[in-house]
Amino acid sequence: MTLTHALNKTDFGSEENIGKVISEQEALELLSDWVKNDKLAFHMKQVGHLMKAYALQQGYEDQTVHMWYLAGLLHDADWDQWPDEHCSRIIEELEYREVDPRIIKAIASHGPRYFGVKPESEMDKMLYAFDELSGFVHAYSLMRPQGYEGMEVKGVKKRLKDKSFAAQVSRDDIADASERSGIPVEELIKFVIVNQLRGE
Ligand SMILES: [Fe+2]
Ligand SMILES: [Fe+2]
Repeated sequence: MTLTHALNKTDFGSEENIGKVISEQEALELLSDWVKNDKLAFHMKQVGHLMKAYALQQGYEDQTVHMWYLAGLLHDADWDQWPDEHCSRIIEELEYREVDPRIIKAIASHGPRYFGVKPESEMDKMLYAFDELSGFVHAYSLMRPQGYEGMEVKGVKKRLKDKSFAAQVSRDDIADASERSGIPVEELIKFVIVNQLRGE
C-alpha cells in the first residue's frame, strides 16, 4: 500500500504548547481564508460539531471540548488549496500558531492509510471515526427528500453496502475507524444522525 500523503513524522507540535488553543473565531477565520469550497467547509464544520458533541457527551471540561472541536473543524483546512500536501500544511500552520500538540496529532492521524500516523488518543480515534462516516451520512441526507428527517441507521447501512453510492467514500476506512474506536458502526451512524449539523 502506498501512503500517498505520508507525513514521515512522529512528533507533532511542541510539549511547551500543551494547554494552548486558538479561539473559535480565529479558527473560523483560518477556515474561511483557506477553504473556498463550500462543501468542504461544511464537511469541516460538521466534523467539528460532531467532535464537540461527542466530547460534551463524555462530560469533558470546556477546554477539552474546545480542543476536540478545533481538531474536527480544521482537519481538512489545507485540502482545498494544497491537496498534494494534505495534511502537512495545516500541521505546520498550527505548529506555527503554537497550538496544543494533541490537536495537531489528532489531525495528523485522521487518515492512517494515507498519512502513516496511528490514531492513539480517544480524540485521534474519534476524529478518524467521524470523518468519512459523517460525509457519507451527509451524502445520504442530500438524496433523501426529507434530508435527515426520519433517517434510520438501517437506511445508512444499506447504502454502505451499495458500492455505487458515494463510491469515493472508503468503506474500509469506515470499518477500520469503527474498530479502532471500539464503537460499532451502527452506534456511530446513530450519533451522526442525532447530532446532524443543520443548515447548509
Ligand atoms: Fe482529510
Ligand atoms: Fe475530512
